[in-house]
Amino acid sequence: MAEFTRVADVDDLPDPGKLLVEVDGDPVALFRVGGTFHAIDDVCTHDGGPLVDGELADHTIACPRHGAKFDIRTGAALSMPAIRATRAYDVKLEDGGVFLRLREATAGPVNQPTATTATPSPAAAAPAAVTTPPAADPAPAPAGASGDAATGLADQTLSEELIREMLKEVKDPELFVNIVDLGLIYNVTIAPEPADAGRQVAIDMTMTSPACPAGPQLIADTKRVVGTHCDVGDVEVRIVMDPPWTPDRMTDAARDQLGIF
Ligand code: FES
Repeated sequence: MAEFTRVADVDDLPDPGKLLVEVDGDPVALFRVGGTFHAIDDVCTHDGGPLVDGELADHTIACPRHGAKFDIRTGAALSMPAIRATRAYDVKLEDGGVFLRLREATAGPVNQPTATTATPSPAAAAPAAVTTPPAADPAPAPAGASGDAATGLADQTLSEELIREMLKEVKDPELFVNIVDLGLIYNVTIAPEPADAGRQVAIDMTMTSPACPAGPQLIADTKRVVGTHCDVGDVEVRIVMDPPWTPDRMTDAARDQLGIF
């Protein structure tokens, strides 16, 4: 087991407070909340964002890049777009100093934070959050794949249900889960009368986070896939963030793919 490393003085942090420190060359975010110290890797598991720069609220830190939230006590990922825990550290206070040691990970499901809290005593430290990778689709279709060729839906009678089925061809490029099962499609509206160039389709769609980096790609892929239907003219995609997306909008199929139980 790794040795404890002194990373700061107790008085270096206000309460609440956060500080970037280093353990064996790795950046670590050190927190002080309610008199207790906690530490997790300063690396967002979504795309490497620096967590210590994020907003701290109680025992939750929000990644400043795309908004994923992590439990500072366990490193567990609490919200999309992150789905994997970041590493947590045991904390020891001694001689006015703060000492850290990488916590030994335990196996278990992703996104199920364990009730752990770093405390001044290493003996009281609990197991870390899990870092099991998500069960990604073994053969994800490339984002933007044509629903026409893949499913043969483009000639069937146009309906909201059909469009939702076609949109299962559009997958989040990072999660490899389709946008319908992720719960990103709020409304599908089909104009009642065909226009000269086909019927108008409007889709209200949300994102897993306000600054989702995959947003432009998902919009373009949605338009392209729906536009393959023989009766569709223009496709309008409206991004709506109210109500905000939450993980409970995912179907069981999406949860299975992501390893969330
Ligand atoms: S890098 Fe942290 S949410 Fe994307």
